[in-house]
Amino acid sequence: MNIRTQVGIVGAGPAGLMLALLLAREGIDAVVLESRSRAEIESTIRAGVLEQGTVDLMTELGVGERMRREGAVHSGIELRFGGAGHRIDFTDLTGGRGIMLYPQHEVIKDCVAARLAEGGTILFSVSDVRLDNVVTNQPLIRCLHEGGQVELHCDFIAGCDGFHGVSRASLPEAELRVFSRSYPFGWLGILMQAPPSASELIYAYSERGFALVSTRSPELQRLYIQCDPTDDIANWSDELILDELQARLVTHDGWELLAGPVTQKSILAMRSFVIEPMQYGRLFLAGDAAHIVPPTGAKGLNLAVADVRHLARALAHFYQRQQTDLLEAYSTTCLRRVWRAEHFSWWMTSMLHRFPDDDAFQQRMQRAQLDYTVTSRAAAMSLAENYVGLPFDW
Ligand code: FAD
Ligand code: DHB
Repeated sequence: MNIRTQVGIVGAGPAGLMLALLLAREGIDAVVLESRSRAEIESTIRAGVLEQGTVDLMTELGVGERMRREGAVHSGIELRFGGAGHRIDFTDLTGGRGIMLYPQHEVIKDCVAARLAEGGTILFSVSDVRLDNVVTNQPLIRCLHEGGQVELHCDFIAGCDGFHGVSRASLPEAELRVFSRSYPFGWLGILMQAPPSASELIYAYSERGFALVSTRSPELQRLYIQCDPTDDIANWSDELILDELQARLVTHDGWELLAGPVTQKSILAMRSFVIEPMQYGRLFLAGDAAHIVPPTGAKGLNLAVADVRHLARALAHFYQRQQTDLLEAYSTTCLRRVWRAEHFSWWMTSMLHRFPDDDAFQQRMQRAQLDYTVTSRAAAMSLAENYVGLPFDW
C-alpha cells in the first residue's frame, strides 16, 4: 500500500497524537504509525500530572472535556521530611496556576478518539518501521501493517516513538551529542484500590528512601517508593510495599496511609538523557525520543507536548509562508526548555532520594535544601514555577 501525506508521524504517544491534532487545526495532513495496538496504548499506566499549559492545550484542541469532568485540579503539593509535612502553595506562589491529575492513558484515549473522529489515519500494530531519505525533500517511512508492506511518502517525518523507538537511530552518530546520566535507584510504582490518603501529592524524603503519594481517582491511588533498580518485583509482597510506604511517610501527628488491594506493581529505572540536535534533515524528534527526565517533578509528558507545539507552529509557518526559519530553529528552541526541565528533575531527584554512597554530610545538605525550600518564599516560588510549568513562550 502506498500512502501520501504531508507529515509522517512515528508513534501514537502524547507527542505523536497531539502533533496530529495540532497539524489538523492548521489544515496539514498527517498519518500516525504506532507499533502497539489501540487497546495497549489506551491501558498502559504512566504519567499522571499535567501542567497548566498541557491542560490549556487539550482544551484548545477540543480534547479537554472528559479531563475537566474527571480530572482533579491540585493547587499545591506537600514536601514531607523529619516527620512533618510542608505545603508548597502553587496558587499563591504562581499567581493562580496549578496542575491537573489526569492519567496519561486517558489523555491517549481522548486524543485517539478525537483524531479518528476528524477522519485522521492512525495505523496501529505496525512493525518493522524504517525511515529513509530523511535528508531529501521526499522522506519515506516503510513498515508492515496487517501482513502487507506500507510505504508512507511524506514531506517531513516526526519521530515521536519514545525512548525505545527507531527514529533516533536515523540521526547519524557523527552529527550528535548525547548527554546521559543514570541513577543508582528506581521507582517501585503501585496502583491501589483505596480512597486518597491526602488531598494533594506528597513527596517524602526519609532515611529509608523517597516515597510519593499520588492519585488516579477517588477509588484508585498511585504510590511510588525508591528501590534498587535491578530488584525483582517478585521480592516485594504487597504487605512489604505498604509497610515500607507507611514507614517512609510516618509523621509526628500519626498520619496514616489508607490501604487497599494492590492491583498493579512494577519497577522502573531512572535516567536523564538528551540528544542534540533534535533534528536531522527532514526528521524532527519530539518527546521521549529525544530526551528523558527522571520522573521526580513529573515533566516527561509535559515536555513532549511542548516540543510538538513548537513543531506544529514551525510546520504551519513552512506550509503557509514557505519559510523554514522556525523549522531550522526547532532544536534550539526546544532544547532551552528541555535543559530547564532536565535541571529541575535532576534537582528534585537529588534533593529527595537516598544515594547508596551518601554520607552524613550529603544528608545534611539535602535537609538544608528541603528546609530552605519550604521556609523561603523565593525558594518555594522557584519550585512552584517549575512544577506548574514555565509559560510556553518562556
Ligand atoms: P511515548 O509515550 O513513549 O510514546 C511513544 C509511542 O511510540 C508509544 O506508543 C510506542 O508504542 C510507539 N513506538 C515505539 N517504537 C515505535 C516504532 N518503531 N514504530 C511505531 N511506533 C513506535 N511525565 C509527566 O509529565 N508527568 C508524570 O506524572 C509522569 N509520570 C510518569 C510515571 C511513569 C511510571 C513513567 C514510566 C513515566 C512518567 N512520565 C511522566 C513520563 C511520560 O510518561 C513520558 O515522558 C511520555 O509518555 C512521553 O511521551 P512521548 O509521546 O514522547 O513517548
Ligand atoms: C506521578 C508521577 C510522577 O513522576 C510525579 O512526579 C508525580 C505523580 C503520577 O504518576 O501520578
